[in-house]
Order: sequence, then C-alpha cells, then structure tokens
Amino acid sequence: VCCVLDYGSQYTQLIARRIRDSGVLSVLMPGDVTMERIKGAQPKTIILSGGPNSVHVEGAPRVPDGFWEYCAENDIPVLGICYGMQLIVHQLGGEVKTADGGGEYGRMPMNVVRDSTLFSTEEQDSQLVWMSHGDEAVKLPDGFSVVARSEQGAIVAIEHPKRRIFGLQYHPEVVHSERGAETIRHFLFDIAKMTGDWRMEDVLEEEMEKIRLQVGPTDHVICALSGGVDSTVAATLVLGDRLHCVFVDNGLLRYKEAERVMDTFNQHLHLPVCKVDDADRMLGRLKGLSDPEAKRKAIGAEFIDGTLYPDVIESCPPPGKGQKHSHTIKSHHNVGGLPEDLQFELIEPLRELFKDEVRSLGRLLGVPEQFISRHPFPGPGLAVRIIGDVTEGDRLDVLREVDEVFINSIREWGLYDKIWQAFAVFLPVRSVGVQGDQRTHSHVVALRAVTSSDGMTADWYPFQPDFLRYVSTKICNTVRSVNRVVYDVTSKPPGTIEWE
Ligand code: XMP
Repeated sequence: VCCVLDYGSQYTQLIARRIRDSGVLSVLMPGDVTMERIKGAQPKTIILSGGPNSVHVEGAPRVPDGFWEYCAENDIPVLGICYGMQLIVHQLGGEVKTADGGGEYGRMPMNVVRDSTLFSTEEQDSQLVWMSHGDEAVKLPDGFSVVARSEQGAIVAIEHPKRRIFGLQYHPEVVHSERGAETIRHFLFDIAKMTGDWRMEDVLEEEMEKIRLQVGPTDHVICALSGGVDSTVAATLVLGDRLHCVFVDNGLLRYKEAERVMDTFNQHLHLPVCKVDDADRMLGRLKGLSDPEAKRKAIGAEFIDGTLYPDVIESCPPPGKGQKHSHTIKSHHNVGGLPEDLQFELIEPLRELFKDEVRSLGRLLGVPEQFISRHPFPGPGLAVRIIGDVTEGDRLDVLREVDEVFINSIREWGLYDKIWQAFAVFLPVRSVGVQGDQRTHSHVVALRAVTSSDGMTADWYPFQPDFLRYVSTKICNTVRSVNRVVYDVTSKPPGTIEWE
C-alpha cells in the first residue's frame, strides 16, 4: 500500500490515481491522520500531498508526532509534493520562505543540477513541470541535497537518499508535467521497490473479506439503493439473504425513475428492494427555499432524519426482528453527512474508489452494463437543477419532461457513452417567444453535457450543430411551456458540473 496524506491540494485525487494506474494500491488519508491509522495500513511508502497552506500559518497541518521515527525504523520512503516538500524542509530543520516575486505558477522548465536518486535518466535532466506555489525552500535540513532548480533558481527537487526522503516542489501528478508519471513510477518501483501487481480483483477479494469479518453471523445489512452505479455495485458485493435493500423516492427524481429503478432491480439483479415514498415530506421541507445552500441543507436533514431510520425500519423489518446489530451501506456521505449517533455500523466498500474504478469492479461482479454505464446523478437530485424554489408551479414536471427528451435524444444519436453526465436545468426566468403566430412568455431551460474522468474537472461536450438543432426543436415541440433552450459552454473550473 502507498498511503497518500491529503493536505488539501486540488490534485491529491490525481496522485492516488496515478499510483493506482501503475498497479499499486493507494489509500488516501486526511492530513491530520493519527499515527495509529497510518501504522494500521502498513504502508510500504508514503506520499505527502500539496495543499493551499503555508507551513508558517498557525494551525497549518503537519505530519503526526512520531512520523519520521516510524518511517526510519521501517525503512519507508517518503515523497513530499509541493506543500509536502515544504513540510519536510520545515519540520526537519530547514527553512521555507514566501517566494520573492510571489511564487511560480503554470508550466515551466526545470533543470536537474546533480546526479541523483530521484531522476535516473538523461532525458529527465531538463523538463517542463507544472508549478503552483507561493512559498519555497531556501535552506535544506542537514543531509539533504538540491537535485533540481527552476529557471528562476528556486529549489524544486530535493533528496536524502540515505533516509529515503524526497521532495518535489512541482506537481508530477498533473499531465502538464511532461515526465511526472515517469518520476512517480520511478519512485514507486525503483526507489520504494513496490511490485505493481495490484489489480481490481484484489479490491474485490479484500472488500468481500472485510464485509465477512464485519457482518457477524446474526447481523443484517441494510443498503440504501439509489439506482446508480455506486450503490448497485455495493449491494452486489454484499448480496445474500441477510441484505435488505431500500429505495427512497424523495420526489426529486427524474421522469419515471422510481418505477424504472424498481423494475430493473427486480428483473436484472433479482434484488428484493423495498420502496419508501418520501416525496411529500421532502417537498414540504423545500417549500419556499431558494438559496442553494439552504436547499442542500434541508435535503440533507430530510435524507438523514426523515427517511432512512423510521421508514426503513418500519417498512423493511429484517426477517429475524429484534436483532441487536444492523449495518447500513452507503456509498456516499450525501449532502449533510451522517449524524454522530448513527445507530448502525457503516460499511463503505467503495469509499476509496473513483467512479471509473467502481465501474470496473461492477463489471468484475457481473453487474449488467446498463447499471455500470449510467451517468452519475447527484443525491439532492433535480433540486440542484432547478434554480430557486423547487416547489413553485410545475417546475419539477417541466424539468422532468425536458430531461427525458434530452437524454433520449442523446441515446438516439449514439452519444450517451461518450458523455460523463448530461442533464437539463430549469431557469427561474421567462422569455418572449412566438409559437404558431402567438406571442408566448414561457420557461427557459439550459442543457448541460460534460466529459470528465472523475467529476473533479470537466469539459463541456462539443455537440454538432445538427444535434443541438434537433434537440432544441424537439424540446420546444414536446414541452409546450418551454420556448427557449440554451446550451452551457462552461468547463469545470470555473463552473461546477451542477448549477447549484
Ligand atoms: P459538481 O457540481 O460539484 O459535481 O461539479 C461533481 C459531481 O458530483 C455530483 N454531485 C453530487 N453527488 N451528492 C451527490 O451524490 C451531492 O450533493 C452532489 N453534488 C454534486 C454531480 O452530479 C457531479 O457528478
């Protein structure tokens, strides 16, 4: 295992991803992780991520006490990236300062200045790397040497080969660092001597074993199914006669979604699923709310204390009633997070995986492709796709109809699998139009379709004009209260995928 300590960089997920792509299991841990948890993972190597802080800010994250001693005793190589490198320098007795001139940002050249353990080939001597830092190391701790410098002369790679501690000021994990992936592989395989034989099958076995250990012989498992790929794969992992699946219709689902999900679960997965109708209560909570955060909070609160516990327990009692222990599976800590006094034990088999890894796991488990390839759908549902008050007028119905036309059109044109996520957004404005010689003053909807590999960054999908023409005509002809369709051409960043 390679543990990645997350100090808050927007690229931390990418570090974990690069490591797994190399065939090494990586586990993300929060920056304030305890030594116990690190020891529990028995890491062969540890990477300290970047982060937005300066080491000099009060309360800036640090490695836990005993970290360096533990790594030395167990001969664990450590690589610090950006903030991670500054942490190494600062905590081991060197000096980090705010960079003169405000730092280095973007893609720029760096040069290796001496023979090193970190860079093994000549091709690496001069390379373009991705920088994003305001602080820099100006004096290294004893025994460390400078391996590379930026064109401006800043220290951008350091090492102490004997102690097996390494630091990179730039981000080798982003594609803009031309030899970054090579450097990470060199660290994992040549320096840390990892084997690179980790496969998705291993996750499957490990997770099943963990579940077997956690769920005792008389325990029962409740799985909240959403119909999406994560919960379906999670349920399939636990399949057995002590698994009780529940599907909650929260009133914020797509067109006929509840019926379709129930049908497909029964027909294709042969999962006994119990449906709970919470639409009225959820919409009641949302009435009059138009601030995005207030809406999300209301949904989160209802999700937790309104639906799950009382309804599930009343309407889906486990066969052997009165069991002492129950477990519940959730693949997302959705919206507001879970309460502290959760009266279940949590099983989160997919917690560490990215969406496309969950998909691979699902394929290994034989989950039908129609579940695997579904676009993600957010927990707060259509509520984050209706700007303003969800409950006003017929907004939900209008949006459902538009969304259905859009998604069906994408399928008809063979584009569904090329797109990460596609949906419509209801805008709280009206526009003037003309339909059948009549002046109209009707709804405006926006369409959004993006490509992405993990939802962290995304690009808008470049539909052909023919498709856009087809779909906008079809929407206005099918959904009579809509007279204008616009297409969202914003990437993430600066936008997010959802509008709220
Ligand atoms: P954003 O809008 O943050 O979305 O770019 C990234 C991905 O996450 C989904 N999303 C959510 N999923 N609960 C979820 O389960 C949520 O509260 C939530 N908010 C956004 C979104 O659909 C996209 O795939």
